[in-house]
Amino acid sequence: MKILGISGSLRQGSWNTAALHAAADLLPEGHALEIAAIGDLPLMNQDLEHDGKYPETVECFRAAVLAADALLFATPEYNASIPAPLKNAIDWGSRPANVWSAKPAAIIGVSPGALGTSRGQYPLRQTLGVLSVQLLGQPEVFIGGAGQKFTDGNLTDAATREFLAKMLTAFVTFSERVKLS
Ligand SMILES: Cc1cc2nc3c(=O)[nH]c(=O)nc-3n(C[C@H](O)[C@H](O)[C@H](O)COP(=O)(O)O)c2cc1C
Repeated sequence: MKILGISGSLRQGSWNTAALHAAADLLPEGHALEIAAIGDLPLMNQDLEHDGKYPETVECFRAAVLAADALLFATPEYNASIPAPLKNAIDWGSRPANVWSAKPAAIIGVSPGALGTSRGQYPLRQTLGVLSVQLLGQPEVFIGGAGQKFTDGNLTDAATREFLAKMLTAFVTFSERVKLS
């Protein structure tokens, strides 16, 4: 499986981007994860669309989503919802033709607080569902207390790494099943 990781945070020291790097390490053998760049996407503006063509960075991002076998979102919650840069990327991908459609996907999230992004993940689930993304239901991954689980930008907490590895195994199995259906 060629998995595209999409982080909802543009922050250099992002825990969510770090969680995607950890996921790349923890994937079952034979599968690979690359992280998409969403920071250079322009803000959604239909005036940037010309004859069904989009700006170059948008076309590149859309092509990366289309080429992926599966998608792994890692996102903080901003004010109890989807961070604007991530929503912007999703909106660009949703323009005709919707590149998200039928893609298997999973969501993980990291926050310094106790709730571990649950209030951000549910609105994200709703949006991706509308776009016909095939979402892994369980296990859900809410990583709270990030300050205790990451060291020098790496996910070092053993129990969290083990849980993430378990979820990734389930995700790969789920994605293979979705691809065959
Ligand atoms: C605009 C903004 C809104 C935020 N809102 C929330 C929130 O609703 N709940 C929460 O747990 N953390 C919130 N935070 C704090 C983030 O969880 C924290 O900055 C986290 O480190 C972001 O993830 P990252 O490390 O991947 O950048 C917010 C941060 C920002 C910048």
